[in-house]
Amino acid sequence: MTNDLMGIVILISGRGSNMQAIVEAAKQKKIPVSVRAVISNDPNAAGLVYARENGIEAYALDHHQFDSREAFDLELTRLIDQHHPELVVLAGFMRILGKDFVDHYAGRLINIHPALLPAFPGLNTHERAIAAGAARHGATVHFVTHDVDVGPIIIQAAVNVAGDDTADQLAKRVLEQEHRIYPKAVGWFAENRLSVVDGKVLIDGRQVDEQGLENS
Ligand code: GAR
Repeated sequence: MTNDLMGIVILISGRGSNMQAIVEAAKQKKIPVSVRAVISNDPNAAGLVYARENGIEAYALDHHQFDSREAFDLELTRLIDQHHPELVVLAGFMRILGKDFVDHYAGRLINIHPALLPAFPGLNTHERAIAAGAARHGATVHFVTHDVDVGPIIIQAAVNVAGDDTADQLAKRVLEQEHRIYPKAVGWFAENRLSVVDGKVLIDGRQVDEQGLENS
């Protein structure tokens, strides 16, 4: 019986290492989810190969084939909804999603961002953290809302920034934390332990601490 497993669909654009961490956690029964599909907007995404090799339905939906963002979002919604997921997981999905898409999945759409939000939304976060002389950097899992990278924070993990860190070195350490916190957040959602009150995420009805920051 698999009816106690929550169905999820994961959206990727490339390597898919966060998707792999979630698939692995599900395979090892650490989180009660069933990954029903993986979808990439880039047909060459390496993550699609991994998904297929692991028996997961994997789709490429090339955004270049669509005339508008709305048309792409609509087809993406149709494809996702064929799989009836209770949660849609953005895992390195590098397309901005429109208002209608975000509304359609409100409360069941989450993202991982490679920075300690609200610091460094957007792109090139590791380079920017180093350039700004940040002492700490990290990753954030959050609910997706209309504005990019600002939704209610579920969990964060921090790493120290060394004086001589390159962006690649820092990215590698942050990615290790991403692989730890993203399956955890998906598991909390699947276990129905998350709620959002006044824009803040509660876990088991409690706020873990001010920023939801879990020190590593
Ligand atoms: C991850 O570092 C993720 O946080 C980031 O892209 C990388 C994808 O790696 N996401 C964003 O920048 C979203 N704005 P992965 O494909 O190996 O999971």
